[in-house]
Amino acid sequence: MSVFERFLSPINARALARSVTHRAGAGGSPATLLRHIEATSVFFVPIDKREALIEAARQLLGPEIPATAPVGGLERISISGVAVPNTSALSAAGTDVLGPTVAIRMEADLNEARLVARQMCQQVGLQGFAAQKFVTAVSELARNVAKYACPGRVAFSHDAVGRRLRVVVSDRGTGIPNLDAVLDGKYRSKTGMGLGLVGTRKLVDEFDAQTGATGTTIAIAVKY
Ligand SMILES: Nc1ncnc2c1ncn2[C@@H]1O[C@H](COP(=O)(O)OP(=O)(O)OP(=O)(O)O)[C@@H](O)[C@H]1O
Ligand SMILES: [Mg+2]
Repeated sequence: MSVFERFLSPINARALARSVTHRAGAGGSPATLLRHIEATSVFFVPIDKREALIEAARQLLGPEIPATAPVGGLERISISGVAVPNTSALSAAGTDVLGPTVAIRMEADLNEARLVARQMCQQVGLQGFAAQKFVTAVSELARNVAKYACPGRVAFSHDAVGRRLRVVVSDRGTGIPNLDAVLDGKYRSKTGMGLGLVGTRKLVDEFDAQTGATGTTIAIAVKY
């Protein structure tokens, strides 16, 4: 906690500590603990402070522990190189910590989006049907990007204070011209069941869609 509080607000420091001890268990070695701090800090620590926090934790737990690749594999997720603007109207709330971003360039990228969604659930302890709903929502939105508006991206973030996972799916396609009809369930799709967006909205706690001729941004959040 003394290390975490040097880099984070007390509430985020506590959330990180709780999450690390939850994942590492009671009898973990310092090296195990450090690896869990490396992995879990993705969700709590702003990117510019993360390296310094991990180094400070390493100094405390055992400077001899080699700096390793984080467990959990989140770091191997490619960061989007797709140039999609971060729409300020929908940018995450002040307490959010940005997680991974997955570029959607082709159908195969949907697997990566689903994988990260599942990992986010694991990190915060969201399980069962609740986790399945979240993964399905992310999958539907990413699938629409792949189908209608490629390329785009899926950006994950975590609000530890509000206990929410948040996802912003954005693209620079030609927009959804009849969004109101789609969300009212009045739209008949030529390309699918036409239930992706209506279904997604039912699966999540927060849903916000912005669309226009220069692209679409859909933000969702689930509580845990
Ligand atoms: N990101 C997007 N960019 C442009 N158009 C989109 C986008 N997402 C959805 N659409 C349009 O909105 C319609 C409704 O999308 P929705 O996901 O609800 O249904 P669907 O994709 O047609 O079918 P399903 O998802 O059930 O297979 C689509 O048919 C498509 O025309
Ligand atoms: Mg769809």
